[in-house]
Parts: sequence; C-alpha cells; structure tokens
Amino acid sequence: MTRVNILLLVPLLFLETAAALTLRPSPLQQNSKPSLALLTPNNQPYSTSILSPKRPCRRHTQLFAGFGKPPANDKSSSKKSNKSTTKKKLQVQERIKQAYGGDIARGTQERINKAITALPPHERSIADLYRKVAQWDAHLSTLSPERTAHLKSQEVANAEATRTELMRLCSEIGWTEGDAHNVMQRITWDASADAKAAKASVGFMPDHLQKRVDRACVVIADSVKSAKRDGKRGGRCLDVGCGHGTLVPELTKFGVSPGQIVGVDLSSEMVRNARERYRGVTFVAGDFLGEYEDDGGFDGIIFCSALHDLPDVTRGLAKAAALLRPEGKMVLLHAQGCAHVMGQHKANPVLVKRGLPSAKELEVIGVELGLELIHAPAELGSTKDSDEGYLAILRKAA
Ligand SMILES: C[S@@+](CC[C@H](N)C(=O)[O-])C[C@H]1O[C@@H](n2cnc3c(N)ncnc32)[C@H](O)[C@@H]1O
Repeated sequence: MTRVNILLLVPLLFLETAAALTLRPSPLQQNSKPSLALLTPNNQPYSTSILSPKRPCRRHTQLFAGFGKPPANDKSSSKKSNKSTTKKKLQVQERIKQAYGGDIARGTQERINKAITALPPHERSIADLYRKVAQWDAHLSTLSPERTAHLKSQEVANAEATRTELMRLCSEIGWTEGDAHNVMQRITWDASADAKAAKASVGFMPDHLQKRVDRACVVIADSVKSAKRDGKRGGRCLDVGCGHGTLVPELTKFGVSPGQIVGVDLSSEMVRNARERYRGVTFVAGDFLGEYEDDGGFDGIIFCSALHDLPDVTRGLAKAAALLRPEGKMVLLHAQGCAHVMGQHKANPVLVKRGLPSAKELEVIGVELGLELIHAPAELGSTKDSDEGYLAILRKAA
C-alpha cells in the first residue's frame, strides 16, 4: 500500500461521528444479485488531486468525539459533581491519548498504517486497486456527457485495465467489490474505535443533534413497543453500523429494553467497545451485507450515520427490508445531514462511495421492496437539510 493510500484515509476519520483483517468472502456477496434499482451517482464537483491530511479543525474534533452522554442537568449537579465529572473526563481523555501515543489523530493514523502493512500482499493489492477504481468512478460521476465523451482513450483504457485487474484478483480469492470496499472500512473503524468510544463516554451530543437523534429513536421505540409477538406486546430492533453502541442510551431512554436491541457492526473493535459499555444488548461483529443473518425479524431497523458506509446502499436497503417484519419501520438518519455526507464523499470517495439517497430514489426502491416512504428526507442543498439533518422513514406493508 502506498503512502498515498494512507494519507487518503485521514480526512474522513475526522469528518465522521471495524476484526479480522482477512476477510472471508460472504455467501451473500458471492451470490450477489444486481441492485434492485440503480441509484444515480451524485453529480457533485470532485477533485482527483491527492492532498496531505489536514490538521483536524475544531469541527472535526467535535465530530470525532461522537455522541456521548448529556451533561448532568443543572438541578442534580452540584459544584462537587461538576468537578468530579470534569476530573473523570480529563482522566479518560488522558488515558485514551496515552493509548494512542500522545496524539489521537496521529495514533489513529499509525494504527491504520500498521493494519494496512499487516494485510496479506494479495489483499493489499486489492485495496490499492479498489482505491483507484473508486476514485475513477467518483471522477466520472462528476462529468457531463460531453466531457465524458472527450476523455482521453488511454485514460479510459487504463481505468478499465485497473478494474479488470481488481476483479481478477478478487475472483482469485472469491471476493466481490464489496469485500474490497470493506477492507479499508474495517481498518479505519477498528483504528478509531477506542478513541470514539472513550470520547463518547465523557462527551455529550450538541442539542440540535440530540433532537434529531431523539426524533429517529422515538420512531423505532414506538414501533418496537407496539409490536406484538405470540400475542404479547413488544418487539425488537436492529441498529445497523451500531459503532460503539451510540444509540443504546437513546433507545432505552424511550422505553426499549436492552434485550430488545441488536447491533451489528463490521468493526470488531467497535463491537468490543459496545459490549464493554452496554450489558444485555446483542452486538454482532460482521458485514451487514455479508455474513449477518437473523431469522427473528425486526420491528424497527435504524441506520444512524451508517448507510453511506456500505459498499452498496440499495443492497443495504434490500437486506434491511427483508429483515423487517410487516408494518415494521426503517429509519435512515444522518443527524449532520446529506450535505455533510456529500462532503465526506468528496473528501474520500474510497470510504464513502456516494451521498445519501434522495426522496425520489427511496420512493423507487421502496416500491420494489414493499416499503412506503412515510417521511421523505431533506434534499441536498435544501434548508431542511441544515435545519433537520437527513431523516427518512419507511414502513413495510402489512
Ligand atoms: C459513522 S459510524 C456510525 C456509528 C454509529 N451508528 C454512530 O452513529 O455513532 C459507521 C459505522 O458503520 C460500520 N459499518 C461500515 N460498513 C459496515 C457494514 N458493511 N456492515 C456493518 N457495519 C458497517 C462502521 O464499522 C462504523 O462503525
């Protein structure tokens, strides 16, 4: 893996709120069917230039902190408890800083570098080719038909040769392009898991984001609480890309019990942190599009800041639809909004292949999957996006 690859990973780490490095080909991915509906690539300006990682700015640092516990409210907090909270925060921050060698940003990058170096040569080659292909695809998606027609034939031939070589290497070990996408996802999230979990345990969610997360969690909680199984009230929900268990306190706050929550995440390090933080919740480490299976069905499924990390958004929605029970709700949330995700896509098309699906796209996909779009998400560039973030709610037919 070249230095260039490594440098590309940093910007995304700090823009966003994963395990064995040897991926097994998942049966589902091996037999993957073509997407149900084609999601159009986002037509956003894109630069192919490779930039050195920027120093994390204040906004990055805030996002890196993730969602954490709200501060103790004024009534219950005495000066003494404030002091002890601050002391605890400082201790946790210091401990995690040390674990990352004195600087979390640099330490995270070092963990990533180490994991990349430890990849078997074949996988490293796949990851490298995948990066080139993803950048090329992102570049193409920004071009008008006229500009596409005027691309140099040598440039197009090189890109096609890279794609052919990627597919050849993947097929040698029974991988799909999705498996190739997941390599860097896994490495990146594994590397940042400890820092994110520690920061979340002492940080807090800004009010405006808290409201957006609450709104989404209420939908899931209501769906779980009103569900009936074997004549008894109460169902279960799935948190896809659950990270270190961010949504557990949010869902339990609205009456879902830990035993009703299942979280799945590609990053085993995220899942280890989640298990350490929350008892009674089922956390599964694995690829949602691959090895993840469940035969009980869910009454609510939420993707919180996670849908855009999947290699194929449409297949992610199709799998979730299949796991959803009749009348169950699927919630797609990105509290920071679709413009934020588009920024991540532009900064790193390798990790974030595209932006979030528009209302129109969801309607088309919904029809094919038997889902009704009951709350349309904000459109890219709309004031609704900056006011509310991205929230889509789909209901499965009875
Ligand atoms: C931005 S984080 C969001 C974590 C959490 N939902 C939150 O809001 O804090 C995205 C998460 O999706 C996970 N992820 C990415 N691809 C995945 C996949 N194919 N299957 C399951 N989880 C995945 C990553 O490991 C990461 O923990």
